[in-house]
Amino acid sequence: MTVIQQTKTLFDSAPLNPPDSIFGLLEQFKQDSRSDKVNLSVGVYQDESGQTPVLKCVRAAERIMLDAAGSKNYLPIDGSPVFNNAVGKLVLGAAVASNANLHWATAQTPGGTVSLRIAGELLRRVFEVDTIWISNPTWANHPQIFHAAGMTIQRYEYLNANNTGLDFGRLIDSLAQAKSGQAILLHTVCHNPTGVDPTPEQWIELNTLIQQKGLFPIFDFAYQGFGVNLEEDSFPIRQFVESGGEALVCNSFSKNFGLYAERVGGVTAVAQRGSSGLAMRSQLQATIRTIYSNPPLHGGKIVETVLGDSELRQQWEQELTEIRHRILQLRATFVATMASMIPDRDFQYINEQRGMFSYSGLTIDQVERLRSEYAIYALKDGRINIAGINRNNLLPLCQAIANVVRSAD
Ligand code: LMR
Repeated sequence: MTVIQQTKTLFDSAPLNPPDSIFGLLEQFKQDSRSDKVNLSVGVYQDESGQTPVLKCVRAAERIMLDAAGSKNYLPIDGSPVFNNAVGKLVLGAAVASNANLHWATAQTPGGTVSLRIAGELLRRVFEVDTIWISNPTWANHPQIFHAAGMTIQRYEYLNANNTGLDFGRLIDSLAQAKSGQAILLHTVCHNPTGVDPTPEQWIELNTLIQQKGLFPIFDFAYQGFGVNLEEDSFPIRQFVESGGEALVCNSFSKNFGLYAERVGGVTAVAQRGSSGLAMRSQLQATIRTIYSNPPLHGGKIVETVLGDSELRQQWEQELTEIRHRILQLRATFVATMASMIPDRDFQYINEQRGMFSYSGLTIDQVERLRSEYAIYALKDGRINIAGINRNNLLPLCQAIANVVRSAD
C-alpha cells in the first residue's frame, strides 16, 4: 500500500485533555503499587473487604432473566414502559405518582449522567433555556454536562465559611440575580460533594422562592435511599410538584442498586396538565432518538424485575438499609477516632452530613500530602468517600489525616 505523507494531519492539532478529576484519580490509584493504599475518591460503595458487591436482589433478578425466554430486540426510544412506570413511582413516591392532578413521563436512560444531559438538551433546545444555576461546590461533571448541552453556568453559594454546613441565607441571597426562565439544578438528597442537605423547612422556602422567581428545577436524584429512606428522600420533589411546580427529575441506579457499570437511570418530567405530560413524553423521545436512539436492556431489566416482585423489592430495601446504616456507622467511628487523635478539633459536622460523601475540610495541600506520603486518595476539593473506610484502614487513615492536619496548624 502506498502511504501518502502529510505534513500535518487534523489530529496533530488536538490538545491533550487533562485527566478527569474523579476517574483520572481512580486510574492513578489503580496504578499505585503501595499495598496499603486507600481509595476515598470515586463515589462507589465499598464493603468491609473493600469490594463493590453485587446486591443479592440483583443476582436473583439476573437468574430470573437468564431463565426467561427473553429477546435482545430494541427497546422503545424511551425504554421499557414497565421500567418507566415503576421508576416514576419510585422517584415521585406512590401518592404523587397517582395524584390525578399531576402528569408525568419517565424515560429510561443509560445512567444518571445521560439523564442530566437529556434534561439539559431538552431545556436548551425545546424551551430555549440558556442558563442554569448550579451549587458551588457541586459534582465536577455537572457544569461540563450542562455546558455541553449549550447552557451558560451560574453558581449559587452553598456552604458556610468553614465548609462544614449549609449557609442557607447565603444560598438564597446568591439567587438574587437568577431570572425567570432560567434553570436551577438541585441535589435532592446527599449533596455531592459535601453531604450537606437543606432541612425540610428550608426546602419549602427554597422551592417557594424557585416558583416565585419562575426558575425551572432539575432535581438530581442520584442517591435515593442513602439519606433517610426511599420515601423521605424524595420530599423536595414531592413538595415542589404538589405545590403546583413542574420539574425534571434525573435519577440513577448506580448507587442504590450498585449497578454502576450497567448504566441505568431515568429522567422524569412532571407536568401540571395532561396534554403537557403527553407532549413531554414525545419531547423526551425526540431528544433521546438523536443521541443514543434507545437505552440498553440489561440494567433496566434488573431494576424492573426487582421493583416488580414484592419479595425482591423487600430484599432490595433491606440491602439498601444495611448500606445506609453501615455508612452512618462509619461516619460515627471516623469522627470518634479523629476526635481521640485531635481532641481540639471538631469533626462532629461529619456526623450530620449524609450519603457517601463528606467534605472533610482538608485543603488541596493536605489532600496532596495524603496521596503522595500515605497512598490515600481523596478528591482535590477535600471530598472523601466515607464508604471507602473499613476496619483495616480506619486507624492508619485517621493517623495520616491527623498528621497532615496537625503539621498544617
Ligand atoms: C462520583 O461523584 O464520584 C460518582 O458520581 C462517579 C462519577 O461519575 O463521577
